[in-house]
Amino acid sequence: MTATYTVAVLGAGTMGSGIAAVMARAGHQTLLFDVEDDKLARGVETVHGFFDRSVALGKLDDARASGAKSRLAAVTDLTELGAADVVVEAVYEDLALKKDLFAQLDDVVSPSALLHTNTSTLSVTGIASGSRHPERVVGTHYCNPAPLMKLVEVAPGRHTADWAQKATLDFLDSLRKSAVITRDRPGFIVNRFLIPWENRCIAALESGLGSRESIDAAVTGALGHPMGPFRLLDVVGLDIHQQVATRLYEQLRDPRFFPPPMVERMVAAGELGRKTGRGFYTYDDTRLFGS
Ligand SMILES: NC(=O)c1ccc[n+]([C@@H]2O[C@H](COP(=O)([O-])OP(=O)(O)OC[C@H]3O[C@@H](n4cnc5c(N)ncnc54)[C@H](O)[C@@H]3O)[C@@H](O)[C@H]2O)c1
Repeated sequence: MTATYTVAVLGAGTMGSGIAAVMARAGHQTLLFDVEDDKLARGVETVHGFFDRSVALGKLDDARASGAKSRLAAVTDLTELGAADVVVEAVYEDLALKKDLFAQLDDVVSPSALLHTNTSTLSVTGIASGSRHPERVVGTHYCNPAPLMKLVEVAPGRHTADWAQKATLDFLDSLRKSAVITRDRPGFIVNRFLIPWENRCIAALESGLGSRESIDAAVTGALGHPMGPFRLLDVVGLDIHQQVATRLYEQLRDPRFFPPPMVERMVAAGELGRKTGRGFYTYDDTRLFGS
């Protein structure tokens, strides 16, 4: 039988709500924490909506969906996270903010609790330096949308203990995720390849090589990707792509990471993708993740 955990998820945005759904679905008590009440409420609503749609699509039965919903609790005070065996941090991509949160967690959770960060571009070692127990800090980079994507990149920091890495892999096993181990380097494995490739696709569109539909169709048809670059960018969000690409460029100084001008125009126009109803394509449905 798989062990059950109490999991605290910090940040109820795109990733935090998706990760909370993964935890509750796997049978773990899930405490979803955010500093903004409206974001927390929206996060809980998003998770419930995901389970409801999973039932409607016949992917989950009623009893399992109600069980998963009952395991999710919204928390507004960090001190209520004391029971957590695992903390998954998914707040804004800001080193000072994440370090400060990890420092506060030292006084809240047990020293044996695992502290996971879902950072995309920051150093795991840098974030862990906020904690008095950096040996239990591990990077776990979930892919968006977290409930649907199997892969999680696992990045131990400079001080991560072997026991913490092993316990992290056991935990990811309980979620039925596929873990790949990578090093604490900017962009880990996936974004190191994905970001320059997405930039090439955007530049190709901008130069008139093909329409968004034809480039997407070429990629799905010939390369076997489940969705083309423009559908994917609309799911991720153009603002997030711009932020991740720019941060990687700043660290790596490799021009392939620099977002093409079209990205800035789209972000300035509020064409962020699915979440604003318009990106490369238009959408009636602005849900953060489907089922
Ligand atoms: N969006 C993606 O595709 C993606 C994919 C993988 C990893 N990530 C990483 O996941 C993290 C979260 O990204 P996101 O896209 O979900 O961001 P988001 O903006 O959707 O959500 C961030 C949430 O953090 C909350 N927050 C801010 N400060 C907080 C604090 N002190 N305590 C608790 N909550 C706080 C905000 O209120 C907000 O709800 C980032 O580190 C990002 O790099 C994002």
